[in-house]
Amino acid sequence: MTALMTPILRSGYMPARADSDPCREQDLGLFEVVVRDGAARIGRLHTLHGSLQTPALLPVVNPNLRTIEPREMWDRYGVDALITNSYVIWKHEKLKDEALSEGIHSLLDFPGVVMTDSGTFQSYVYGDVEVGVSEIVEFQRDIGVDIGTMLDVFGRPDMTRLELEECVQETARRAPESLAAVGDKMLLNGPIQGGTHQDLRAEAASLMGSAEEGGRGFSVHPLGGIVPLMEKQRYRDLFEALMAARSTTPSDRPIHMFGCGHPMLFPMAIALGADLFDSAAYAIFARDDRLLSPEGTIKLGSLTEWPVTSSALFGRTPGEVREMDEEERSVLLAHHNLEVTQTELAKCREAVREGRIWQLAERRSHVNPQLREAFLWVLDQLEEIPDEPSGEAALQILASTNPVRLGREDISDDVGSRPHILHLHALLSMRWRTPGSWWDGSDDNPERVVLIDSAPPPWRITALGAAMSALLENPRSVVMIPTPLGPIPYTMEDVSPWCHLECSDEIWLEPYDDEEILEGLEELGLQDLPLVRVTPTDIPDDERSSEVRDWLDRCSIVDKLSVLCAIPPLEACRLTGEMEVRRSNTDRIVNVLNDGQHILSPRLTDGGISLALEGASRLNSKTNPPALFGEQTLDSGSDHPGVPRVRLLEDAVPFVGRGRNVMHGYILGADPHLIPGQPCIVVDDGGRLVAHGTAITTPREMSQLSKGVAVRVREGALRGD
Ligand code: GUN
Repeated sequence: MTALMTPILRSGYMPARADSDPCREQDLGLFEVVVRDGAARIGRLHTLHGSLQTPALLPVVNPNLRTIEPREMWDRYGVDALITNSYVIWKHEKLKDEALSEGIHSLLDFPGVVMTDSGTFQSYVYGDVEVGVSEIVEFQRDIGVDIGTMLDVFGRPDMTRLELEECVQETARRAPESLAAVGDKMLLNGPIQGGTHQDLRAEAASLMGSAEEGGRGFSVHPLGGIVPLMEKQRYRDLFEALMAARSTTPSDRPIHMFGCGHPMLFPMAIALGADLFDSAAYAIFARDDRLLSPEGTIKLGSLTEWPVTSSALFGRTPGEVREMDEEERSVLLAHHNLEVTQTELAKCREAVREGRIWQLAERRSHVNPQLREAFLWVLDQLEEIPDEPSGEAALQILASTNPVRLGREDISDDVGSRPHILHLHALLSMRWRTPGSWWDGSDDNPERVVLIDSAPPPWRITALGAAMSALLENPRSVVMIPTPLGPIPYTMEDVSPWCHLECSDEIWLEPYDDEEILEGLEELGLQDLPLVRVTPTDIPDDERSSEVRDWLDRCSIVDKLSVLCAIPPLEACRLTGEMEVRRSNTDRIVNVLNDGQHILSPRLTDGGISLALEGASRLNSKTNPPALFGEQTLDSGSDHPGVPRVRLLEDAVPFVGRGRNVMHGYILGADPHLIPGQPCIVVDDGGRLVAHGTAITTPREMSQLSKGVAVRVREGALRGD
């Protein structure tokens, strides 16, 4: 510990943290997804110095100039992994000897995960480096690095396309030689170059993702050549490169953003699928009297009070800090910067756990005009799905996002472009159908749309009376509720986020323009029906009321099965033909029975559906299982291909059949329309039901990941066998 740090450390007791435990031998190098929120994921990368939780920032430690001691990073800031430069150590005789004899962890006095870079960045800054391709990997291996980096070729954004192509190709040519030198304990970074050309980034990710030598591939894929983009605040280009690379990077490899460490960039990068970051910004900015904050950079300048705080700054005024001698001040500010960086990452991880990372990225996009421009560009990709790698990445983001959400949904200008809302609306417009038959037994076409204005949620209380009155008046009425996201069928009234939209009374009570409503009705194919607008009324006192209510309940189950589980509406009607329900004290349906058998339960928290074993069994009507991964399938083209299924490896059938979760590595195929967070069924090779549960990962991830839970099983179907 340097004398300069004493004043900082004196202010707080710093308990020593236990050293890391190595991962299990069989897990070395594997990456698993533990929690996901769309493309954002909380993962674990298994190394010999611990299973690293991601997203994580690896502070850059200069072995010649340690602004903050690595041991202090570990103990005080919970830094689990850092990055240093193997080329700098290799060039420096004393450091090299010590690293070779004592190992990198001892040299740095750091018990966590050590990643090293290879000298590529030095070649970008200073010209060529003298080290060889295998030599630098062997050196990293020999000093006990956990995650090394091959000597890639830095692709500057100002290079010509031809030059950038060469950077991508030469990096790929060096991959086998690098992988051959890696040994059996070290993981290796396979950088993705390609400048600002989407196709080159996608090609590079695919080349590096499939590179293999002696059965070994890369474990992590950093995005290379992006420092010049960040220096010029070219954030749109930065996120374009990330999306393009992500479209073809294997799902079982974390994506690292080389040199990206400004906390303002974390939420958007994480929302788009970045897992690791590294940066010297905490130290470099501190040397220049600049403070990092999630809302941008702040000059110490002539501040009177702190607009951002940390335990490092607490108890000191900006004036006192200005008075410090230069080195002491820079150490203090580096502590602040590291603390703020770690805090923002913790906030991002928590947002992923809560399913709110996109909202955080949206909020942060307002702190900087270039960031805002980048965010708006990303929204365009999600809405337009261009025929480019970024469009493919946008599709993957949408498909990986659970459309049904817990908790409140705050309103903003961008609310309608959030991936879970785009996904939910896409499912609604593709799969929702007007009823095939009505409460009075007729089966004619609908005759009108009735829109219940001025009713705030919960609609089962505020709008039920008007819905029933409208149906009594004309049974062939399609009852809708207007929301700031567009009109929705009354039968989906308790589906979140619609029912959890946080609006002022004004928004709920003021009627919408006809034009706005019409746009939404068009999405559902209802534009040609006469539109009648009504306001809330009491439950009608009519002997036929209970019949209408039962019909509405059944429609609600049929609609949710069609929209969220892809069940053909006719099949959903058959399943609920003799439907009876059990209600809670608050009058909400808790169990749905048919012929006296429990088939499913509406989820009271988010309005989704949970199947019961009997329902899963009745819905498993197909005899052929999903195609094997990699096998060509003919797209049925149906909007309702049936409840999504996962095809299990025969060895796992007895375990999953008894209720154990489906783990990655035991899956042979999955239906392409499977949605994380929504119900799915698990079948064997003969298409027989093994279990049912909730999908955690996407079909693409199921085909690529080899560790972690793929389906959280609710019930095994073979318990009695
Ligand atoms: N550090 C910052 N950018 C890069 C890069 O493109 N490659 C490597 N190896 N290190 C980097």
